[in-house]
Amino acid sequence: MSPYRMTRTLPEDATGAALRADVLDGLTRMPKALPPKWFYDARGSELFEEITRLPEYYPTRAEREILIGRAPEIAAATGARTLVELGSGSSEKTRHLLRELTGLHSYVPVDVSESALTGAAEALLEGHPSLHVHALIADFTRGLVLPETPGPRLVAFLGGTIGNLLPAERAEFLRSVRALLEPGDALLLGTDLVKDEAVLVRAYDDAAGVTAAFNKNVLNVLARELDADVDPDDFDHVALWDRDREWIEMRLRARTALSVKIPELDLLVPFEEGEELRTEVSAKFRQEGVRGELAAADMELARWWTDSAGRFALSLATAAG
Ligand code: SAH
Ligand code: AVI
Repeated sequence: MSPYRMTRTLPEDATGAALRADVLDGLTRMPKALPPKWFYDARGSELFEEITRLPEYYPTRAEREILIGRAPEIAAATGARTLVELGSGSSEKTRHLLRELTGLHSYVPVDVSESALTGAAEALLEGHPSLHVHALIADFTRGLVLPETPGPRLVAFLGGTIGNLLPAERAEFLRSVRALLEPGDALLLGTDLVKDEAVLVRAYDDAAGVTAAFNKNVLNVLARELDADVDPDDFDHVALWDRDREWIEMRLRARTALSVKIPELDLLVPFEEGEELRTEVSAKFRQEGVRGELAAADMELARWWTDSAGRFALSLATAAG
């Protein structure tokens, strides 16, 4: 029997219902906003992978450097038998952990993107044929229920994806992660760090326009899933640094006054010329902030590693006390 299993933890239409609720809420408020998880249909997941290879987008390379250097320490410190990975995407960097986690029994990648999970599992099983891979199609912000697998568990949340949650969502999310941890379990958390504004903005507004295509892809999702009458070319990609909140914000700016018809929701969404729709925040962190947010969720920062250029950090945390 194949040690690969994929579980949809949500009913078939839960994704559609969640999209309709988010669109109704986000496009009828001022300013308009949508949650970033809707970028990741099959095309969006592919575009994200392309972003990770761009010269301007340093986070993936920086985190990979840390993982390659620190995986033996992570393996020794955790002795993990189950690796749960939230927002696992292509699992491309994960193989550096898998190589060192020699006692690993199960890998549980969790993602909203079914296409990303399928592609990742195929690639992983080639290298680790006896690993039990239990892929979960699930929203990691909505009460995750993990399969019964042997402990200790290491919960990895890489890429800096935690920065795509708003501060209140982050606090609630970290509490839910804490609730998954039993004594001996650990959290491995990737966070992009505050740095020079020009470097940050370039990473989210690359010369080849891949991030612009990724940003606009959310409009393709609305067109396909909700029959929305929207042309991505009517919008410009915007990436800006919010110095006070220390986050990058991606927006879509209407080139002219226009309306987006969404028959599935019986909704007509007017945009003024220049009006912006926020599609993502990508918060950047400092060590004290990470320590504080972990502590507020009853976790303790045990290890903190950065890449050689100090751009990105990987933290190992355990339950406090
Ligand atoms: N961890 C990978 C991928 C990061 S891209 C890396 O470091 O390169 C972010 C991933 O999180 C995508 O695969 C996306 O589909 C997934 N994702 C985003 N929001 C999510 C949510 N709420 N629940 C589950 N997965 C989510
Ligand atoms: C997945 N996440 C951490 C990426 C980021 O950098 O915030 C998503 C992304 N958005 C634009 N480029 C990449």
